[in-house]
Amino acid sequence: MVAAVARPSSRGARYLLAALSTAGLVLAPIPASAADDGDHGPRFSPGSAGVGDPYFPLAGNGGIDVEHYDLELRYTPPAAEPAPLEGHLEGTATIDLEATEDLSRFNLDLRGLTVTEVEVDGRRATFTQQENELVVTPRRGLRDGKDVEVVVEYGGTTGRPLDATGALYGWVTTRDGAMVANEPDGAATWFPVNDHPTDKATFTFAVAVPEGLVVAANGLLVDRSTEDGLTTWLWDASEDLMAPYLATASIGNYRLSTSTAAGVPVIDAVDADLTEPNARQTAATLALTEDMLEFFEGIFGDYPFVAYGSIVDDDSVDYALETQTRSLFSLVADEATAAHELAHSWVGNAVSPERWSDIWLNEGWATYGEQLWTEHRGGRTAQQQFDALMRTPANDPLWTVRVGDPGAANMFAGAVYLRGAGTLHALRLRIGDDDFFDLAREWVGRYDGAAASTADFEALAEEVSGEDLDHFFDVWLRTATRPANW
Ligand code: TRP
Ligand code: ZN
Repeated sequence: MVAAVARPSSRGARYLLAALSTAGLVLAPIPASAADDGDHGPRFSPGSAGVGDPYFPLAGNGGIDVEHYDLELRYTPPAAEPAPLEGHLEGTATIDLEATEDLSRFNLDLRGLTVTEVEVDGRRATFTQQENELVVTPRRGLRDGKDVEVVVEYGGTTGRPLDATGALYGWVTTRDGAMVANEPDGAATWFPVNDHPTDKATFTFAVAVPEGLVVAANGLLVDRSTEDGLTTWLWDASEDLMAPYLATASIGNYRLSTSTAAGVPVIDAVDADLTEPNARQTAATLALTEDMLEFFEGIFGDYPFVAYGSIVDDDSVDYALETQTRSLFSLVADEATAAHELAHSWVGNAVSPERWSDIWLNEGWATYGEQLWTEHRGGRTAQQQFDALMRTPANDPLWTVRVGDPGAANMFAGAVYLRGAGTLHALRLRIGDDDFFDLAREWVGRYDGAAASTADFEALAEEVSGEDLDHFFDVWLRTATRPANW
């Protein structure tokens, strides 16, 4: 779903070779009458293979707007060692989408899994797969504005995929299940998807796993039932819009616990196999969820989703992701990281980056949220953390990253987090606490459910403060040196 505040899709005007004059070829717009000549007329053309994000040219697709993903999955984890760390996944994805152009065909993103059948509105469609793309050709073209139901049957072997920087992501197969963490373009490793944060949608999940294992997905748990040694877990995330990179359906030997914090239902899934110190630290962190929720509501406004909770898996690699309504941690949930991931609910999840070059808006804000939490808990103040950053020597490579457009290889570099947070603290010093915290709330309030850009943020900061901040943002976001005068 493309929310109201998102930019209208730039639909390139299509031209017809109209006449050959002495002046050469003349291109003229297709007349309206010719555009009405049936589903296979010249006005129907293929949707593009990407939304035009320069960091990930094949991420997302042109000409479609997904409203809902219903994912029915069946998963078999790897056998015991020394069997390879490979699982088996079979899926039926039922996708409600709207054509936003007159389409002769359209793409979804899917990687490493094999499609066996595609139906569009109940009729078999032809399809091909290549690289990151599933190309679907319906029996008849789809007119701009048409809503269709696309059903994709697919499956295959799962492994441990790597992102463009070599970090694990996507459907990460573990010995007893999977840790599913898609940022930035890893949703396509487990379902056919319009994999870009500019196309948020609602989700439902029905995941069947061997009895004894637990599935933890986004939203609310609505049912579980066991038959013939398989337990099917139903999770409902149909109340909130979600960018596909925030979807999860992690599987493990989890203990589920439910509670309520600040009026929000909380569902935690904690691996029974954590080491004793990690289990203890995780429990202490999760006991702070209510305080953290209240603290961040005080900064950003009401918690934006129907539920919260954490998944803590015993997988070996240390990482954490702000999977929507259900933050995901491996090994342990430490307090600072938990605050960081919860802060992302407002900055990153409710408001998502319009282009991946805007990633500092996610990581800078979440890191600043983490710093404010640390101060709140009596640790170093935000000012002290800013001062420490600014003591980083001017010749440190940290300062060479232009965090406003860091490049795909540097999206999750330390600079994006630390200089991103520093940008926000410097902005606070520049415009004052009142305007800064008004800005934080207004940012989330205005763009909740949508995607927004660095330009949107700069414009809002100027609107709220009434100041010209061009030089400020140039120095902090677009200069490859340590900020000195701003
Ligand atoms: N957004 C995560 C964080 O800082 C980091 C991250 C990016 C990540 N891509 C990932 C974590 C993939 C796990 C998997 O909170
Ligand atoms: Zn983060």
